[in-house]
This record gives sequence, C-alpha cells and structure tokens, in this order.
Amino acid sequence: MGELHSPVLLNESIDYLITDKSGIYFDGTLGFGGHSSKILESINNDGLLVSTDVDLDAFNFSRSKFGNKQNMKLYNFNFSKIKIISKLESIKVYNGIFADLGISSHQIDDPASGFTFREEAELDLRMDKTIKLTAAELINTFAEDEISSIFYEFGEEKNSRKIARRICEKRRINPIKTTTKLAEIISELVPERYLNKTLSRIFQSIRIYINKELEVLKTFLDESVDLLAEGGRIVILTYHSLEDRIVKEKFQYEELKCVCPKDYPVCSCNKTQRLKILTRKPVYPSDAELSINRRARSAKLRAAVRL
Ligand SMILES: C[S@@+](CC[C@H](N)C(=O)[O-])C[C@H]1O[C@@H](n2cnc3c(N)ncnc32)[C@H](O)[C@@H]1O
Repeated sequence: MGELHSPVLLNESIDYLITDKSGIYFDGTLGFGGHSSKILESINNDGLLVSTDVDLDAFNFSRSKFGNKQNMKLYNFNFSKIKIISKLESIKVYNGIFADLGISSHQIDDPASGFTFREEAELDLRMDKTIKLTAAELINTFAEDEISSIFYEFGEEKNSRKIARRICEKRRINPIKTTTKLAEIISELVPERYLNKTLSRIFQSIRIYINKELEVLKTFLDESVDLLAEGGRIVILTYHSLEDRIVKEKFQYEELKCVCPKDYPVCSCNKTQRLKILTRKPVYPSDAELSINRRARSAKLRAAVRL
C-alpha cells in the first residue's frame, strides 16, 4: 500500500491539544495513526493515549503499526462510546480529546471500502460493517421523498428531488447495486462540469445517513466535555459545513454562562460556562500544506479549553 493517509493540520492539532506531557489523551479517529503517532511523540512514558477507530481495516493496520506500546490503548469502537472506553480504562478525565472527522484517503481510494464513486464497488458506505443498513438497501428500498430528503439534508444538494426521482425510475427496471451504476444515473442529469461535486455531495449524504455521523458527533462532543479535566483541550478537525456547524455551536453553547431569555430579571437556568473557545475563527491548512495535500482543502480546526 502506498501513502495511506497524510495527516491534516498535524502540527497545529498537536500545538492546541498537548498541555501536559504526562497527560491522558484520546484520539477518536485513529485511522492510519498519523495524529496518534505525533501525540505519542509529544507525551512521555507517564502519559497515555487511548485511540479508537470504528473501521476494522484502519484499526487492524494501526494495531500492527503501534504494536503493544506501553502508553497506548487501541479500540475498534465508535468514538461516541468514549464514556464506555474510559470506564474500561478506569479513566476519569482527559487532558486532551481529539477527532479528525470523516474518512481517510485510504477509505476514499480503496474500491473495496466502497466509498469511492470513481471505481466499481458494491454500494455499501458503512464504516462499521456491523451496521445493518447499506447504501444499496437505502437506494433500492427507501421511498423517493426519503431519498430526496437525505440528499438535501446531508448533502445540501439542490437537485435532490430530480436525482431521487431518476433513481426510483431506474431501480424499477434493475436494482442499483454498484457505486459506478449510481454515479452513471446521476451523470445523466448533471452537466459534466458539476458532476464530481454533485457525486461527492450525494455519496457524502448517504454516508452521513448510514453511519449516523451527525448524531454520533453530537454524543461524542457532549461526553467529551464531561470527560475533560480542568485546563484540558478539545480539538476537532471537520471537513464539511454540517459537522463544522455542530462543533462550532457546541463550543459556543458551552461558553455561555447563562441561557435564560433576555427579559428574565434574574438568572434561573443554572448553566455554567464549561469551555473557552481558543479559535475564534477556525484554523485552516497553510498554503504549503495545501500544495502537497489536496485533501486538506476543506479542513477546519476548532479548539477549546475546559474551565
Ligand atoms: C480522516 S481519518 C483520520 C486519519 C488519522 N487522523 C490519521 O492521521 O491517520 C478519519 C478516521 O476516523 C474514522 N471514523 C470516522 N467516524 C468515526 C467514529 N464515529 N468513531 C470512530 N472512528 C471514526 C474513520 O474510519 C477514519 O479512519
């Protein structure tokens, strides 16, 4: 296997994340271990890194890459299970929690992973192969308006209705089983110059729906704030506006001291401020990084500290 994945915003992530070399850190998106390696390099033997990935291939690859490192624990769990993982490790709080959302270059490039629309593969799009619903089942059995809402809600696709209608017409003749077949159907409706972007949005929307990506992100963020030590950092890399909005709004909510309506004379909400945002504007990859890693182009880093 060539280059499996180039870690994005690597130095920036570590600079925001690590505050204590002997601290306990969590990497929710282990992937091919790019960020985890750098976290390990940045902590000493008293420190600990717990890393997880829901994708079995990524987990297996990283398990052999890291072997049985003393100060690293590896899991093949969804990051939304951070509380369960922490219980298993008897960890009460972390000094830093990190996630680099989405999928890796390897998942995108490897036809067997079924995430690419450029090569023929079964329509699958599950990161966790124990999930029951596949992309093929969604495309071939969901009602037209359900499919159209998925494209619109999770892909922000303006032609969602037109594309869903054509899919439903085509599947009556033959079930749509492969990534390339779905791409071919969409290509009949969209001008060549918009095709790649449309296909990216459609595949992204199916992936988000099947893997419940926005729901698990919300759970992960809620539980992460509970699990941060005072002064501990949370650092999240996002790649599209839907996930970025969730991170931004969660950080903003946790920064508020009070959520009472403005006309209340006294505060009765009992809310406390738990985070201070460290990145008023998101951090973007430098031009130097963008020139060597195209996949970094949509990345945004947001970081906050637990009060
Ligand atoms: C962008 S890649 C991470 C790459 C990693 N930082 C590196 O440098 O190698 C995202 C990874 O997160 C995993 N992932 C996505 N959502 C997840 C979730 N909810 N729980 C655990 N892993 C997840 C994907 O399977 C993928 O391997």
